[in-house]
Amino acid sequence: METKKTSSFTGSLGFVLAAAGSAVGVGNIWRFPYLAAKDGGGLFLIVYLALVVTFGFTLLVTDVAIGRKTRENALHAFGSIRKRWAFLGYLTFLVPAIIMTYYSVIGGWIVRYLVAYVSGKGTEAARDGYFTAFITSKASPVFFMLVFLAFTAFVVYRGVEKGIEKFARIVMPGLLLMVVGIGIFSLTLKAPGENGQLRTGLDGFLVYVIPSLEGITVSRFLNVLLDAMSQLFFSLSVSMGIMITYGSYVKKDINLNRSLSQIEIFDTLVAFLAGMMIIPAVYVFFGTEGMASGPSLMFVSLPRVFEAMGAAGQVLGAVFFLMVVFAALTSSVSIMETLVANCMDIFHASRQRVSMAIGLISAAASLIICLGYNVFYFEMKLPNGSTAQLLDLMDYISNSFLMPFISLLTCIFVGWIVKPDWICQEMEASGHSFTRKRLYTIMIRYVTPIMMAVLFLQSAGVFELIKR
Ligand code: PFF
Repeated sequence: METKKTSSFTGSLGFVLAAAGSAVGVGNIWRFPYLAAKDGGGLFLIVYLALVVTFGFTLLVTDVAIGRKTRENALHAFGSIRKRWAFLGYLTFLVPAIIMTYYSVIGGWIVRYLVAYVSGKGTEAARDGYFTAFITSKASPVFFMLVFLAFTAFVVYRGVEKGIEKFARIVMPGLLLMVVGIGIFSLTLKAPGENGQLRTGLDGFLVYVIPSLEGITVSRFLNVLLDAMSQLFFSLSVSMGIMITYGSYVKKDINLNRSLSQIEIFDTLVAFLAGMMIIPAVYVFFGTEGMASGPSLMFVSLPRVFEAMGAAGQVLGAVFFLMVVFAALTSSVSIMETLVANCMDIFHASRQRVSMAIGLISAAASLIICLGYNVFYFEMKLPNGSTAQLLDLMDYISNSFLMPFISLLTCIFVGWIVKPDWICQEMEASGHSFTRKRLYTIMIRYVTPIMMAVLFLQSAGVFELIKR
């Protein structure tokens, strides 16, 4: 029987690619560009970058170091350090369990679009109402979700080295190549706007990177900050046990300091490049109004952009959605791996049996989420003012509510109970120095917990209540 103690990544590159595979996902390619478009382009970029090297770095270091030092999954890691904190492990386990239910639904949507483009039916995807008709239909989203989930379970079933690492080694370089390629292509586009003036990809790029301070107020800036912060969690896959699990597979002689910087850079670079592919392309064909489409940017606006490009757009659409499928798969593999590794611990069962069981349970749960667009349809007002259906509600509970809360508790635990030195020692266990030690200590003790508390209160709707 395989247990986590015998599983490990073969080396630094394997770890970096697998962890970057987890980090780079739908969040980078779908969410990041539309947030950047909505939140003042370059302004969002600057804020996000500042947060990555401070908060992102702190949370990533904490998770991976806890995993490697304890050699435990999140479920037992906290309890193995201090018995009274075992509850935090259980709380952390909830996040991937919730995310798994809807991530595979979105994964299924992406597979659907890939199939449409590969089979030469990309123009249909650009028709009005296509996306809504698809997600509200009963059978099709379920079928594609199952395909996506089956592949995820297969990779996890194969194990850490032969499954996760091998898959990431094949997919991640290809993904990077495609993002760079489409990004550069996007800059070369041009088309006349409504007033006859030529709009170029380069103009669109400037809209993306130049900070727009139009109409900025303190409260709007705070909103940008909060958007960037919650994006950061989701994007780096931190505070959900995943990086603790992956950390537990990292060998002691690996220089964590360097590997973690590479993961941060990889994740941020792909997010930036995703914006560079999408924003200029949408701008060229639909102007600044086209960019304000929010979450529908990838599934509604982008197919229209591909259509406007003619034949080349159909090929590009296929490459684009293949890339997104890769990104989504490596992320969903990491979510399922965390669930499987934890359940192997709880039930003392083999990886193969647990992978199959988790695969089936996830399928049942994801089915309910799919039906959230027809049989179980409802609309609910969230504390942040937006209207949610079942999928959005799950997303809100895991990302906006649980993650800041878990991060807050983790910061208190590491910063004040076990003390930052405990982590710093692990960062230096391979004999390399921890270059951002001072920054880490200040961040984990003071800055991060305060920010997490603010984020949590905001997500819980407390600020709205005060305003009333
Ligand atoms: N970080 C991934 C993304 O940006 O899409 C998504 C993700 C992976 C979220 C793993 C949550 C998770 F547990």
